Amino acid sequence: MSEATPDIKKGLVGVYADVSTISKVMPETNSLTYRGYAVQDLCEECTFEEVAYLLWNAELPTRAQLAAFNAEVAAERAISPALLRVIKDFPHDAHPMDAIRTAVSFMGMEDPESADNSEPATRRKAARLLAKIPSAIAAAHRAGKGLEPIQPDPKHTFGENFNLVFGKVPAPEVLKAFDVSLILYAEHTFNASTYTARLVTSTMADIHGAITAGIAALKGPLHGGANEAVMHMLKEVGGPDHAEEWLSTRFDHKALVMGFGHRVYKTGDSRVPTMTKYAEKMAEVVGDKTWMNTSRVLAAKMLKEKNIHPNLDFPAGPAYYLMGFDIPLFTPIFVASRVTGWAAHVIEQAADNRLIRPLSHYTGPEQRPVPPLDRR
Ligand SMILES: CC(C)(COP(=O)(O)OP(=O)(O)OC[C@H]1O[C@@H](n2cnc3c(N)ncnc32)[C@H](O)[C@@H]1OP(=O)(O)O)[C@@H](O)C(=O)NCCC(=O)NCCS
Repeated sequence: MSEATPDIKKGLVGVYADVSTISKVMPETNSLTYRGYAVQDLCEECTFEEVAYLLWNAELPTRAQLAAFNAEVAAERAISPALLRVIKDFPHDAHPMDAIRTAVSFMGMEDPESADNSEPATRRKAARLLAKIPSAIAAAHRAGKGLEPIQPDPKHTFGENFNLVFGKVPAPEVLKAFDVSLILYAEHTFNASTYTARLVTSTMADIHGAITAGIAALKGPLHGGANEAVMHMLKEVGGPDHAEEWLSTRFDHKALVMGFGHRVYKTGDSRVPTMTKYAEKMAEVVGDKTWMNTSRVLAAKMLKEKNIHPNLDFPAGPAYYLMGFDIPLFTPIFVASRVTGWAAHVIEQAADNRLIRPLSHYTGPEQRPVPPLDRR
């Protein structure tokens, strides 16, 4: 008995799954706004903390609101001795994305409000996650190298503290570039990890479960993992002089080129010029233009021959490398930022919830009798 095939939107391409007031992607102008503000303007005018507040509260903070928000988050940076013990027992070669996914799940068990999924409690849990994630990423990274964790410092900004717990004291222009990257990574409508977080929330599960699942989704190289893949690719290319030939070989093999293409933006990604500007600044500060020069050759050839534009991961990868972060930390940095967008979506989904449960069109065998074990 054959059924007509329903209209299947594989990959949910072009499907509107809900309304949202958090961010807007405008593919026709390659632009992105958070709560109505263009991301590139937020990068020039605001700190990452102001943008986190904006995403969670729908308006930019006043000075007093910002001070209170910063104080709330900064006071929660330390992670528990129990979590530190667990982190020390992680396999030393574990990928930092697996480490932070596990650490966030653990934080859910020890959160003082783990059983309270009310909106005020979820907001407080989100602030604790934002505060503690950098400490956990850094502690796991250092434990993998046999080093003790560095205590977070509430006196510092989010970006300064993130660097400090890695034992880094960067120059102001490096901190600015880092902050810009956090702002650009903070939110991006119904991407795979955000939709994962919303789906988990739709079952009325808690925010730690939603964020843990979001981290799992972000790790994949078609999503957040692309920023790491970009840097591996740039190293493999080996410099601007080899870039054209390297890319031709990729084309011959019909292989993906990491950091290019986007499900929504087809003629450019508004975050790319801003991140590229700051990555170029990093190259100047560090005095190493190899990676950005290589990037330029790759981007020009991709556009000319494939008409495919770079996405945010393309400049973010070399920017983080030039800032001195180990490559496996690039996607965890994305987590430290995107937790703001995920939490905003968790709150929005819970406030007007309906269980997310699509249908599948069955194409397996017709119903048949179960043969006994000795007759199979
Ligand atoms: C992001 C991505 C998953 C979007 O996928 P999508 O919306 O399903 O787009 P499609 O895979 O349908 O791409 C359309 C065409 O462009 C090609 N294409 C897209 N991105 C490409 C890339 N990075 N390298 C080479 N070809 C690419 C596809 O092969 C496809 O060609 P075809 O029509 O001849 O089959 C995809 O562009 C990709 O894998 N990019 C690399 C990973 C990456 O940078 N991810 C970060 C995303 S922010």
